[in-house]
Amino acid sequence: MILSIENILTSEELTFITNCLDTAEFVDGKTTAGWHARLVKHNTQLNAQAPDTKDLKGLVTKALLRHPLLQIAALPKAIHSILFSRYDTGMSYGSHVDNALMGKEFLRSDISLTLFLTAPSSYGGGELVIENVEEERSFKLEAGSAIIYPSSSLHRVEPVTEGVRLVAIAWVQSLVRDPSDREILFDLDTVRRSIFHNQGKTTEFDLLSKSYSNLLRKWADV
Ligand code: NI
Repeated sequence: MILSIENILTSEELTFITNCLDTAEFVDGKTTAGWHARLVKHNTQLNAQAPDTKDLKGLVTKALLRHPLLQIAALPKAIHSILFSRYDTGMSYGSHVDNALMGKEFLRSDISLTLFLTAPSSYGGGELVIENVEEERSFKLEAGSAIIYPSSSLHRVEPVTEGVRLVAIAWVQSLVRDPSDREILFDLDTVRRSIFHNQGKTTEFDLLSKSYSNLLRKWADV
């Protein structure tokens, strides 16, 4: 399931982050890529040792975790390995798959997330393209919005033809690792919330909630 999620960040948070990134030190993005992705990764990322990095990561994590749609769709056990990437004109990231396990703790990447930090009209190119076997889908979202997609997908970032593309990248280790199981839970949860909203705590709501909870109990990876 690929899902766009609007308004992850408030405009104040967005301004704060982009102001910090304006003067921050960026380093070659190859340092955090897997041995094969390194060959096609042409971007820069915020120096992990930079003074603001910890605060910026904390702010993004908090914003992601408070968003109800992200909670329902991703069922995060951990949001991890956040990076701030900058693509200057001419930079791109060719087709690759993200590492399955990340960091010293071997956190799993079930869901990849791109949080857009610059307005789409301010740069040319730079679309995130998710490559499925039968089709490709291309995304360039408003600043403050995010896209989530299965980390099992090949994907790329098209060359930036003008301006600067700033994004935050993160990965979710989900409580439910199988994407099709997650999608079933997402659908059931969406429907039961709609019933609750329109009709209250009806018998149908209770039965759906029972199925939701029992499937989550069956599939949760804790
Ligand atoms: Ni990637």
